[in-house]
Amino acid sequence: MTENALNTQQLNEPQSNGQSMTVLVTGASGKTGRRVAEAAEAAGHTVRAASRSGAVRFDWYDPTTWEDALRGADAAYLAYMPDVGAPGAGEAVGALARQAVALGVRRLVLLSARGEDQAEPAERAVRESGARWTVVRASWFAQNLSEGPLLEGMRAGELVFPAGEVLEPFIDSRDIADVVVEVLRPDSGYAGRVVEISGPRLLSFRDAVAEVSAATGREIRYVPVSAREYGGALAGYGVPAEEAEFLIELFETNLDGRNAYLSEGVREVLGRAPRDFAEFAREQAEAGVWKA
Ligand SMILES: NC(=O)c1ccc[n+]([C@@H]2O[C@H](COP(=O)([O-])OP(=O)(O)OC[C@H]3O[C@@H](n4cnc5c(N)ncnc54)[C@H](OP(=O)(O)O)[C@@H]3O)[C@@H](O)[C@H]2O)c1
Repeated sequence: MTENALNTQQLNEPQSNGQSMTVLVTGASGKTGRRVAEAAEAAGHTVRAASRSGAVRFDWYDPTTWEDALRGADAAYLAYMPDVGAPGAGEAVGALARQAVALGVRRLVLLSARGEDQAEPAERAVRESGARWTVVRASWFAQNLSEGPLLEGMRAGELVFPAGEVLEPFIDSRDIADVVVEVLRPDSGYAGRVVEISGPRLLSFRDAVAEVSAATGREIRYVPVSAREYGGALAGYGVPAEEAEFLIELFETNLDGRNAYLSEGVREVLGRAPRDFAEFAREQAEAGVWKA
């Protein structure tokens, strides 16, 4: 290859060809970002761990923080907060993705959600940004029961949640991270593609809570409520009215049974089965996560 050809390719590809890249990880202290950062480091990449309080300051709602986070990175993992389908996600993801491309960050992976129509603007924005993009659409995370707002209820012995008896193939967010780091590789073949991933088994929330209960040896009950009742309770906890309204709509649509099927993305990308919920429940119980 001539030097000119090499330079042209270097402009169009992250500086890696399978070797070390500098990867900006947004939401780097969260359920997926933390594990994406760990998996990227294990794969030999240099990680920029970004969030509002992270080593690299990054705020989706403050575009003045974006340039320093992006400049010099080869690739970026984008997890929009509070949700990929939240109002304004399309505009923010699009603006960030275009800035990333302008700064030479060619490889972008957007975390999205299976069956979430509200995520379409963010997905379209990253597709139209000019980046070499991949959208990873995940099912409901197992770690929603061990980290974040639902943990308190689990510890108190009662998960109140608007999921009825719907079936969901809970995915371990370590599998999301492994998929993200694999598809980020310049020669992975996943640029320009949507990858749908899920866990290996359908469980209702009642089943999932029962598995945690069995693993911990403590009684934990599942109490299904309507999305409206749940939204009302969120507002009582100080969640802003607009966000609570969005979440009600999200739960009413996304927990209506549309996601009660398995996706093959983990096996396709990683060549192995996704981790089972039972493994997650056992490990987290042993770690004492759900102790009262
Ligand atoms: N939960 C699910 O089952 C599920 C399924 C599919 C897709 N998703 C998508 O997953 C994403 C959430 O990812 P996650 O669960 O890994 O995150 P998470 O556990 O909720 O953690 C939030 C992370 O984002 C940072 N953050 C919060 N607000 C921010 C802001 N305004 N600007 C920049 N960073 C901010 C937090 O750190 P700081 O506080 O330091 O900023 C933290 O690192 C959403 O886009 C959601 O739609 C979720």
